Amino acid sequence: MVFRVLVGLAAAALLVQCGAAGTEVTCSGAVPMRWRREVLSITDFGAVGDGRTLNTWPFMKAIYVIQHRRRRGGTLLYVPPGVWLTGSFNLTSHMTLYLARGAVIKATKDTWNWPLMDPLPSYGRGRELPGGRYTSLIHGNGIRDVIITGEKGIIDGQGGVWWNMWRQRSLRFTRPNLLEFMHSSDILISNVILQNSPFWNIHPVYCSNVVIRYVTVLAPSDSPNTDGIDPDSSSNVCIEDSYISTGDDLVAIKSGWDEYGIAYGHPSSGITIRRLTGSSPFSGIAIGSEASGGVENVLVENISLFNTGIGIHIKTNVGRGGYIRNITFADVNMNNVRKGVRIAGDVGDHPDDKFNPYAIPVVDKVTIKNVWGINVQQPGSIEGIKTSPFTRICLFNVKLWGRPQNTPWECTAVSGAALGVQPWPCAELTGNSESGFCSNAF
Ligand SMILES: *[C@@H]1O[C@H](CO)[C@@H](O)[C@H](O)[C@H]1NC(C)=O
Ligand SMILES: *[C@@H]1O[C@H](CO)[C@@H](O)[C@H](O)[C@H]1NC(C)=O
Ligand SMILES: *[C@@H]1O[C@H](CO)[C@@H](O)[C@H](O)[C@H]1NC(C)=O
Repeated sequence: MVFRVLVGLAAAALLVQCGAAGTEVTCSGAVPMRWRREVLSITDFGAVGDGRTLNTWPFMKAIYVIQHRRRRGGTLLYVPPGVWLTGSFNLTSHMTLYLARGAVIKATKDTWNWPLMDPLPSYGRGRELPGGRYTSLIHGNGIRDVIITGEKGIIDGQGGVWWNMWRQRSLRFTRPNLLEFMHSSDILISNVILQNSPFWNIHPVYCSNVVIRYVTVLAPSDSPNTDGIDPDSSSNVCIEDSYISTGDDLVAIKSGWDEYGIAYGHPSSGITIRRLTGSSPFSGIAIGSEASGGVENVLVENISLFNTGIGIHIKTNVGRGGYIRNITFADVNMNNVRKGVRIAGDVGDHPDDKFNPYAIPVVDKVTIKNVWGINVQQPGSIEGIKTSPFTRICLFNVKLWGRPQNTPWECTAVSGAALGVQPWPCAELTGNSESGFCSNAF
C-alpha cells in the first residue's frame, strides 16, 4: 500500500512540474504540492470501503490523531480504492487527504442526522432558508496548509436526495456544500473528481491562497444550485485547468449578501480563472449576484463554454452595495449559448426586507476582450442602474455569431467603449472620448 502511495505522490508531483516547466502561465507555485513525512491510511482507523459501512467515526478519529500528533511536515491521510460512505467531517491543518485511483468518498443519504452550523455572518441567514445551514460534507474552519488530491478519486455528495427535498419543498435548512473552507489559507485542491453535490461544490469563504487545479466537477444540468466553485469573500484564489459541468454557475465569485455582506465588509480580490472548460444552463463564469463586500482584481482567461445559458455574467442588484471593478475576461470561446455577455443591475433576491434600497453597487472597469462565439442567440446586454450607471465597460474584439443571425445588443445606464465588436454593439459603448482605457488595456 505504501508503495502505491509513493507512486501516486510521484505522479502528482510530476504533473505539477510539467505545468511549471512548460511555457504555460500557471499558479502551481502559489500553494505547492507538499511531501508529507507521515502516511496514515483510513483503514488504520477501522474504515471499511464496502459502500455500506458508515465511516464518519474513522474519518473523525484519523483527523483527531493528525491534529494532536502534529507531525513535522504534516500527515497524509490515504484513502484506498473502495467506496467509503461517510457523514460530514472536518479537516485539520498540515494534512493531505489523498484519494487513490478507484477511491470514492461518498456522502451518506441520512439527511436527518446531518450536522448543522450557524449561518455565515456575511449572509445573515442560510442562503436558501432562514436560520442555520447544514455543514459541508468535508469542512475546514480556521486551518492552513491543507491539500486534497490523489489519482482522480471521487468525492460524491449523493445530492439526489437533497435535490428532491428542494423540489418537494421539504428542506428544513440550507443544503450542505460538498467542500467548504472558512477562515483558512494555503489550500490546494487538485486531481480529484467532485460529483453530485447537494448544493455548491467548492466554497472557499473568508479564505486566502487557494489553488484549485486539475479538478472535474459534475452534476446533472437539472440539479438545483449545484454551482461549481464559489470563491466568496476570499483573496488570492486561482482556478485553472479544470472541467466543470453542473446545474448552476460554473464559477461564481461572491462576497456576501446585502446588509449582512456590507456590514461584514470582506471583499473577494485577486481571483484568477484560466483554462476552464464547461457547460451550464445558467452562467459560465459569473460575478455575483451576492457581491456586497466588493469584488475586484479578477482575471479570467482561456475559457471554453458550450451549451450554456449566459457565457460571461456580472450580476448585482439594488441593496447589494459594494463594488465590482477591475475585472478582465480574455480569450473566451463559446458554442451554443443563449447570451454571450450579460452585465445586469437587477439580479437576485434579498435576504429579508431590511436591505437598504440606497445601497447601490458600483460596477466600473470591466474589460472583455478576444471573445469568439458561434450559435449565440443574443450577443449581450448591459443594463446598469439608473442612479449609478456602469462605467468604463470595454469590449474589444468580441465576435458572437448567431445562426444565421442573432438579436442585437441591448444597453441602458452604461458608458464605455467597443472596438472590433460584431454584431455592432449598442450606441452607449461607442463613446470614443473615453476609449483610452479600452485600447490601453492591450
Ligand atoms: C467541525 O468544525 C465546526 C466549526 O466550523 C465545529 O462547529 C464542529 O464542532 C466541528 N466538528 C467536529 C466533529 O469537530
Ligand atoms: C487589476 O487586476 C489585475 C488582475 O487581473 C491586477 O494585476 C492589477 O494590479 C489590478 N489593477 C489595479 C489598479 O489594482
Ligand atoms: C491561451 O490559449 C492560447 C491559444 O490556445 C495560448 O497560446 C495561450 O498561451 C493561452 N494562455 C494561457 C494563459 O493559458
